[in-house]
Amino acid sequence: MASLNDVQGVQKEAEDFVIETREQLEEFKRTFIKGKIGALFQEIRNVAPEDKKTFGAAINNLKNFAQDKLKKHQASIGRPKKKSAQGVVDTTLPVVPHTLGTVHPLTLTRNRIVEIFERIGFNVSEGPEVEDDWHNFSALNFPHNHPAREMQDTFFIEKQGQGEDKNDDIALRTHTSSVQIRVMENQEPPIRTLSPGRVFRNEAISARAHCVFHQVEGLYVDENVSFADMKQTLYHFSKEMFGKNTKIRLRPSYFPFTEPSAEVDVTCFICGGKGCNICKYSGWVEIMGCGMVDPNVLANCNIDPEKYTGFAFGMGIERIAMLKYQINDLRLFTENDVRFLRQFDKM
Ligand code: DAH
Repeated sequence: MASLNDVQGVQKEAEDFVIETREQLEEFKRTFIKGKIGALFQEIRNVAPEDKKTFGAAINNLKNFAQDKLKKHQASIGRPKKKSAQGVVDTTLPVVPHTLGTVHPLTLTRNRIVEIFERIGFNVSEGPEVEDDWHNFSALNFPHNHPAREMQDTFFIEKQGQGEDKNDDIALRTHTSSVQIRVMENQEPPIRTLSPGRVFRNEAISARAHCVFHQVEGLYVDENVSFADMKQTLYHFSKEMFGKNTKIRLRPSYFPFTEPSAEVDVTCFICGGKGCNICKYSGWVEIMGCGMVDPNVLANCNIDPEKYTGFAFGMGIERIAMLKYQINDLRLFTENDVRFLRQFDKM
């Protein structure tokens, strides 16, 4: 038969029981609340009627003590976490699209041009966008009164004066031909270089013109470089860029820094030469200017024109991209309309 002593014994045991972990908490619950205290309640019926009151009160005290202790430790240790929706992967949900940007069509075109020339031994050189008159004009054999120097074409930053002083005028470069001069001033032939970059002209923005655009300049200087070398190089480029059936033709032209000079047309790769609105029904589209480097230009860079000859060419990257991808408005390149840009995803 259970006695008050038994209750006190269990009470002592419950008081001494150390709860530090979740396992000990569970064990306490099992041993005391469900186990020993439950068993003591069962004993009440065997206790003498006159002792039932004190015995019952003692067990109740014990039960309250045990429950308080349990609660206290539950609060500090924490209840086992219920599985929440967080962290559960719902494999039936649609995938969140992983959107990447696309390479800009002008970058694509520039990279392609550079790649074609790199494979035949050209390196890449760059020059400043803010340039002096010497590199942009004078060294390139532009006479001092040439109309291209006038304000309507060129964005001047500093105007120094007249005559020789003009060489120190500072402007935004109007073409990448300025990089030719910088390369030749700093390097001895043989030179085979390609200079892509941004150029600036004071033009109203329209579908066909912009005040900021891009060019690629090419320069080859060595002993015995001929017009035939230039023609073959540009023919090779045109086939690589526009397709292997492309033909080229050179039309006589004029640039101050080349003599003789020419403009390069390629057979229209849209209609194959039959005539369409891209080639204005002529079967040919113009892609660049070129020529043999003028001896004055070589001399301006301290390269002996008696020993060396060279050819140069220059093309607009926007123009090549517009032809290749059939883009009919120059402004699309700078508007950053993602509907336009995303079309170059797979190129
Ligand atoms: N610099 C010329 C322009 O902006 C393009 C050009 C023509 C570059 C002939 C050349 C060249 O190197 O030989 O219109």
